[in-house]
Amino acid sequence: MNSEPTEKNEKEVILSGIRATGALHLGNYLGAVQHFVEFQQTENACLYFVADWHSMTTDHDPERLRREPIEIVKDYIAAGLDPERSIIYAQSSVPELLELTWYLAILQMMPELTALPNYVEHLERIAEGKENTKNNNLGLFSYPILMAADILGPRATLVPVGKDQTIHVRLAGKLARRFNNEYGEYFPVPRTTERMIKVPGLDGEKMGKSQGDNAIDIHLSREEIRRRYLKDGITDKNRRLMSNPGDPYHGCKSVYPVHELVTAGETEAREIATLCQRAQIGCVACKNRLVDNGIWRILEPFQVRRASLKSEEIVEILHEGGKKARRIISETLLEVRERMGVRIY
Ligand code: TRP
Repeated sequence: MNSEPTEKNEKEVILSGIRATGALHLGNYLGAVQHFVEFQQTENACLYFVADWHSMTTDHDPERLRREPIEIVKDYIAAGLDPERSIIYAQSSVPELLELTWYLAILQMMPELTALPNYVEHLERIAEGKENTKNNNLGLFSYPILMAADILGPRATLVPVGKDQTIHVRLAGKLARRFNNEYGEYFPVPRTTERMIKVPGLDGEKMGKSQGDNAIDIHLSREEIRRRYLKDGITDKNRRLMSNPGDPYHGCKSVYPVHELVTAGETEAREIATLCQRAQIGCVACKNRLVDNGIWRILEPFQVRRASLKSEEIVEILHEGGKKARRIISETLLEVRERMGVRIY
């Protein structure tokens, strides 16, 4: 018998899905993309995929579906995702995921799905005429089951997502447990991570596509970004004149908080806060510093890399990633079929 303490040194399987709808903004970049890149620096297995089947559930347009996955993967590769370290693929390259969706659907009770907040919100928007009635389709309804298949297919242990998606990761966990109870222990119960940071948009609210026009698209030029901050960036409203001391920590809504995220080194950000508190820097200068020393320091190398990427390279990356993902997920399906009594004749 082994008397040594058993050291559980199991690697994490980190997985996340990327919705390919619309351009990425700075909030996505700092909040999600950079974390995906950091996860690669570890010994963990990383899988990142484009949820192209999911994006078909709302406002499907074949032309966009052909184009957008390539464009979004270009963004992620330019931001530092590395096909040598991560498996990068499109959901639709792995047909086994749909088969798994079916098996999980058998374990999923209907009432639990109809009550999910994202679904309820869609229904409300459709009823109010704010969303296409075609969006009320079975695909949208079963969205969380496909997402559970995405997660359980490669037996992911850690799923970094935004706040609005944690409930779906929890549902995947419930399905994993239900499967394990019925058919024997097999799936790990995935955890999610709260490490995602919130980036304020120009109006001080969380930067996001649904928040009106408060987002900084990561493809904008330096001058366009500057123009947007100078025109719409909300700073400390109580500071009327440059000679008034400002309150960077509580009063400034959209500029100082971003300095803390993008300006190199904590001391530099703190120096700016002190200058603001002592009325030694004005909001215009502060915004310029944010763009030139902060945002552009990050976005310039990103944009240079992105411009050098060719669509054919991306297609090749997705092709190779799809093969790898399919190998892994097929093994899960062999086991699931066997345990559930499905025979392929
Ligand atoms: N639903 C997620 C979103 O809108 C994308 C997604 C699809 C996903 N499948 C996933 C995220 C699996 C994590 C794991 O952002």
